Amino acid sequence: MLSLFKKNKTPLIALFNNSFIDIHSHLLPAIDDGSKSFEQSLALIKRMQQFGINNFVATPHIMDGVWNNTSASINQKLYELKDYLSKHSAHPLQLRAAAEYLLDSNFEKLLETEKLLCIKDDYILVELSYLNPPINLKEILFKIQIAGYKPILAHPERYLFYHTNFSEYLKLKEAGCSFQLNLLSLSTYYGKGVQNIAKKLLKDGLVDFVGTDTHSNRHLDFLESINDQKLVKLVQPVIENNSLLL
Ligand SMILES: [Fe+2]
Repeated sequence: MLSLFKKNKTPLIALFNNSFIDIHSHLLPAIDDGSKSFEQSLALIKRMQQFGINNFVATPHIMDGVWNNTSASINQKLYELKDYLSKHSAHPLQLRAAAEYLLDSNFEKLLETEKLLCIKDDYILVELSYLNPPINLKEILFKIQIAGYKPILAHPERYLFYHTNFSEYLKLKEAGCSFQLNLLSLSTYYGKGVQNIAKKLLKDGLVDFVGTDTHSNRHLDFLESINDQKLVKLVQPVIENNSLLL
């Protein structure tokens, strides 16, 4: 009888299945602040597979002067990691690579001079500085779309300068940006403020996609711990929406 009164909690990770794709992760080794080695990449991917995640887009930072990755260096690393994984009997259904582009002046140059790495079709993942948005953000978003790309803004909930100016989120959506929420923002990993904004963005229907933004095992510990039932229910349709990018 007692079991009738037990709370049957569904952890967040129970929502993952083979039609889910993680569109934001730092799983390519020694190329940014994510995985440090092939061994670590293997371990992270295996653990995520245990969570039910079987499709990945690795998105190393391209950040001028900090992480000077290029399409060529990213694709080379992807090739090497795939080879390493298969030698260690790890076979995710999909492992692709794109990038997390910081919207700096270097990005504007790249946009004019080369083909960008896409999450799928014409979708690119972009991020802002945590200190302040570029002054010409709306103009950059416009240029991205004129060039034929669809911008997905990584973790909008993490930009503290928008927390007290929530209407800016609506303006970004109107300017053609999709939003990718970090699943870790549903925990207190980035703090209570970020968690609250994540909740509000979800409730207001502003979130299009999710990502794990996995850099390390510590991130996966937090991801595994999320089981707030209201949040799990709230994010479920967005998790399902990720299959559009499979
Ligand atoms: Fe990231």
